[in-house]
Amino acid sequence: MNAESFLKQRLVCVAVIDKVDDAVPLAEALLAGGLNCIEVTFRTAGAAGSIAAIREKVSQISVGAGTLLTAEQVKQAIGAGAQFGVSPGLSEAVMEIANERDFPIFPGVITPTEVMRALDLGAKHLKFFPAETFGGVNALKALAGPFGHTGVKFIPTGGINAALLPNYLAVPQVAAIGGSWMAEKKLVAEKNWKQITSLTAEPMKIISAVKI
Ligand code: 3PG
Repeated sequence: MNAESFLKQRLVCVAVIDKVDDAVPLAEALLAGGLNCIEVTFRTAGAAGSIAAIREKVSQISVGAGTLLTAEQVKQAIGAGAQFGVSPGLSEAVMEIANERDFPIFPGVITPTEVMRALDLGAKHLKFFPAETFGGVNALKALAGPFGHTGVKFIPTGGINAALLPNYLAVPQVAAIGGSWMAEKKLVAEKNWKQITSLTAEPMKIISAVKI
């Protein structure tokens, strides 16, 4: 699958999963809310196991690995079955191994220089992170200006919630939005799958209204 196919629904749920046993019910809760894309962050010991479990048991959802900081983590993510990778920043070592393995990767950028470096390294889908802290939708629009013709697309992430979605989705260079608000760590720890499903259904409804 290519990079675009994972972003078709225009929303990526960023999840921090401590217990591998929570991975499958969480993926099912997102699916029940209508979302078929999850990014499991490499911030916990259970990340690789969670990705493998979701790949094995919940085939309808696309699974990415997030917070990839090193080449070694990219290898682990691919080994676990991740279908795409996300990084908070732009690392040449991460880009190199991802390109070598033909692994779709969305590196993080915030400045024009970083966008140019990312384009040089072959990335076209860039995480704009941390979006809300670094000027939000206005900063993103300004950044998109000189790069629109390059075909670059952004995945703003960081501090975004359902209410902010329409503003971001209106920017033509926005491929998708990333966020953890549908599956906060606390909700996962409480196994509050019902609440996660309803927090997922809400942005999915907003996105389908924006499309009309
Ligand atoms: C990430 O890891 O990509 C961000 O921490 C997600 O940002 P959010 O938690 O503010 O949605």
